[in-house]
Amino acid sequence: MSSGIFTLITGASEGLGKALALECANRKMNLILVALPGKELFQLAGALERSFQIKVAVFEKDLTIEEECSSLYHEIVEQKWEINMLINNAGLGNCCAFEDGQLAGFQQLIKLNIMATTMLTRLFIDLLKKQKKSYILNVSSLIAFFNLPNKQVYGGTKSYIYYF
Ligand SMILES: NC(=O)c1ccc[n+]([C@@H]2O[C@H](COP(=O)([O-])OP(=O)(O)OC[C@H]3O[C@@H](n4cnc5c(N)ncnc54)[C@H](OP(=O)(O)O)[C@@H]3O)[C@@H](O)[C@H]2O)c1
Repeated sequence: MSSGIFTLITGASEGLGKALALECANRKMNLILVALPGKELFQLAGALERSFQIKVAVFEKDLTIEEECSSLYHEIVEQKWEINMLINNAGLGNCCAFEDGQLAGFQQLIKLNIMATTMLTRLFIDLLKKQKKSYILNVSSLIAFFNLPNKQVYGGTKSYIYYF
């Protein structure tokens, strides 16, 4: 794929991330889409390329894994692609009484919602600052503004994102 300026969207295979990808494509923005391995992202990339005549790159990464956040950054740098927008959208939710939750599940949630967002922002910020104008969108939630039962950990991660 030739050079160009890209918007990087995490969690782009479905939900809000997919909707954001469509919105950006409609504005003729080239895209780098990230999600867990699966065919949805490739199908979406193909459809967006055909419909909007933009460039779309796909990276299958598990962003709860630190090394995969790093490799995403290094693979993009190797390609010499420019980035002017980072959308940290990938996020996990949970809904259960805290005492019924599994620690491993809480850890995954914190890794994706907090660690990946923080890490990708730090990794990509120098690249973003090379552009005349660049943007970061970190997706929080209304839950950052109040407490909800059975969503203590999710609410905590989204409060972090709001203040971050
Ligand atoms: N839905 C709501 O009501 C709501 C409300 C407020 C805020 N939000 C926030 O909005 C964001 C998107 O939510 P959504 O409901 O649209 O989510 P969703 O439909 O469940 O989609 C989640 C996306 O994140 C990706 N993802 C999940 N785990 C990942 C991982 N370990 N590494 C990389 N990608 C991963 C998924 O990829 P795969 O398809 O490959 O699994 C998918 O693309 C989240 O941050 C969420 O907290 C949502």
